Amino acid sequence: MSDLILELDGVDFRYPDGSMGLDGCSLAIRRGSRNVLIGANGAGKTTLFQHCNGLLRPTDGVVRYAGAPVDYGRAGLRALRSKVGMVFQNPDRQLFSASVREDVSFGPINLGLDEAAVTARVDAALAAVGMDDLARKPVHNLSFGQKKRVCIAGVLAMEPELLVLDEPMAGLDQAMQEELLAVLERLHGRGMTILLATHDIHFAYRWADRIHLMAAGRCTASLDAPALADHEAELAAIGLRLPAVIGLQRLLRQQGLLAEGAPLHSCTALLARLQEIQR
Ligand SMILES: Nc1ncnc2c1ncn2[C@@H]1O[C@H](COP(=O)(O)OP(=O)(O)O)[C@@H](O)[C@H]1O
Ligand SMILES: [Mg+2]
Repeated sequence: MSDLILELDGVDFRYPDGSMGLDGCSLAIRRGSRNVLIGANGAGKTTLFQHCNGLLRPTDGVVRYAGAPVDYGRAGLRALRSKVGMVFQNPDRQLFSASVREDVSFGPINLGLDEAAVTARVDAALAAVGMDDLARKPVHNLSFGQKKRVCIAGVLAMEPELLVLDEPMAGLDQAMQEELLAVLERLHGRGMTILLATHDIHFAYRWADRIHLMAAGRCTASLDAPALADHEAELAAIGLRLPAVIGLQRLLRQQGLLAEGAPLHSCTALLARLQEIQR
């Protein structure tokens, strides 16, 4: 089995009005890894995502899934979409059924599974996102965060290998972001590969294994998240600064208040370390 679950190789995509959505974009996603795609508005993140499940087809270049070029025939796309689950930015674009359970059932029913298998998948998916209590609720009565979780459940019910989420944290308050993070951690723990888009470098540093920088329709750098501090220039080139927690650790080390060692990836972890030292 290929170690790379998804690859884009020199992909161009031109929209019908002539705008370049992607411009020579290459990117590789390793199986089982946590990936963040980060870039300003208009960088091409959403366009890239729509190439991951064949919603868009490159004008030039190749997309490979598990080592093989995507087959854009009916059967090929069906197979690809059963493996790549896509959570759109706007939940209202994704939800269409009356109730939560109906919505999450749609995919598994479409796969042709029998009733017992559908029920099992839907129950598992709703439990995974903590929405089992709200299965009978009408979708239009849910909060934004709950709708987001139903979208994720709908995708999980398809049991994808690769989960792609377009700006999943946008519009969620701090508590809901933490909940979503816990859901993503559980899924990653079960072996799912995750690719998500964000503007938030702090979140990227805290959560990801790999960070892919994006600007003007291409991926300008892919780096291991723990080594982010060595890539200040590449970040600056796309208008981002290092997360504050990195600068703070540098200062504390210079002052002799923190021993040298592996970098801590969040303010919470840094605070915990400082409290340990004080004791
Ligand atoms: N439906 C569309 N028609 C024409 N141009 C589009 C369309 N969607 C996106 N674009 C253009 O493609 C580029 C990349 O956009 P997008 O992928 O939405 O970026 P991001 O998700 O990073 O904000 C932008 O220049 C944008 O204007
Ligand atoms: Mg977008």
